[in-house]
Amino acid sequence: MPENDKTKTPIGLAIVGCGRVGRIRGRCALEYPGTEWIGCCDIDEKKGKQLAEDLNADFFTTDYKELLKRSEVNSAVLATDENVHAETLFESIEHGHRIIAEKPLATNVVESAKIVKAAQDANIDLVVGYTQRFRRKWLVAREQVASGQLGDITSATTRAFLNRMVGITRLEANEDRSLLTPMVISGTHALDVILWVLGEGKKPTEIYARSVAKALTGLGTQDSTYSIFTFEDGTLWSMSCSWGLPVVWPASTYSLEIGIVGTGGVLTIDDTHRDMVMATEKPWVAHRGDERHVNFLASYPPGDISRGQFWGPMREETNSWLARIYAGVDTPHCTAEEGHRNLMLTMACDLSAKMEAPLALPIEPEVLQSELTK
Ligand SMILES: NC(=O)c1ccc[n+]([C@@H]2O[C@H](COP(=O)([O-])OP(=O)(O)OC[C@H]3O[C@@H](n4cnc5c(N)ncnc54)[C@H](O)[C@@H]3O)[C@@H](O)[C@H]2O)c1
Repeated sequence: MPENDKTKTPIGLAIVGCGRVGRIRGRCALEYPGTEWIGCCDIDEKKGKQLAEDLNADFFTTDYKELLKRSEVNSAVLATDENVHAETLFESIEHGHRIIAEKPLATNVVESAKIVKAAQDANIDLVVGYTQRFRRKWLVAREQVASGQLGDITSATTRAFLNRMVGITRLEANEDRSLLTPMVISGTHALDVILWVLGEGKKPTEIYARSVAKALTGLGTQDSTYSIFTFEDGTLWSMSCSWGLPVVWPASTYSLEIGIVGTGGVLTIDDTHRDMVMATEKPWVAHRGDERHVNFLASYPPGDISRGQFWGPMREETNSWLARIYAGVDTPHCTAEEGHRNLMLTMACDLSAKMEAPLALPIEPEVLQSELTK
């Protein structure tokens, strides 16, 4: 973890993956006073060149290795499709860059364990994009739990409902979808934020999960996975995640309902976005062309565009990361170790569901990976 000191390290930034996330983070970097150099890379040359032009970037290539080895680069935003995360991470670590990588850390737990080890060995500051940590709601919740206001936490419940557009978009972007489940791709956000709010002391010792596949089988994924986690101290957490909701469901991505029960109190969090409902005669068109007459506004988790600028948690997260790498500011980013833990636990849910039996934890990455891919 960086120290707060007065040393400033000018940023030479590589952006690998010039899609939605690369664009948001790139724009923040462009406006950040510590940024001296920006290079962009995307295998989609048209899309990548467009971002490079919009950011007035110093360099563009379709080959991430060519970008990451440039002498100007000392930091990397890795925002490609899920199955490419691991290879771009290994390459960035080898060159000694400070990294913000998108979730999931990898799509293979043996590889994600190796990524963590490689980053530790090379003393690389590697953080993972779990953007929800940068929302006031979760920051306040974590403070209250940590202060002991609720007493000892004994149980928690999370209901994550997602518009099926999320699954369709993420799965269409990846050829190999075999391990891209609702938990690995999307439930991971809810899992990270709950474990972060509950604090480091809560260690899961068992997962019992069940999945169902019907509406999204054509995409090669499940509709829903429902799990019960048991922790070392007996705490129970029920986590239900469905990304099978219809495309006309008014939330862009996530609707979350949370309850955290302690010996001295309870904390409920309504993160369903029903506080801002827009209903219109003229349909509103989502990014894939799906039409909706009713919309929960401000429900796209990274944030929204206003006045041509991007506002929301991903801006907070990116600016905070830029301050971390430029000025050594301490930040609440998800670490590489936590990113690996999140992948392990989401895949453990998938394995328990596959076995239709409880799964004892911890489990070795090699065992988890081989049982899941059998
Ligand atoms: N932190 C969050 O809240 C959050 C939100 C949305 C998406 N994500 C994650 O961010 C990642 C990117 O999502 P997105 O919405 O920006 O996707 P996107 O499809 O808009 O962009 C991904 C880009 O990566 C490019 N790409 C693929 N392989 C590449 C390679 N080998 N080299 C260079 N570029 C390559 C694609 O051409 C595409 O332009 C995903 O892993 C997704 O799960 C995180």
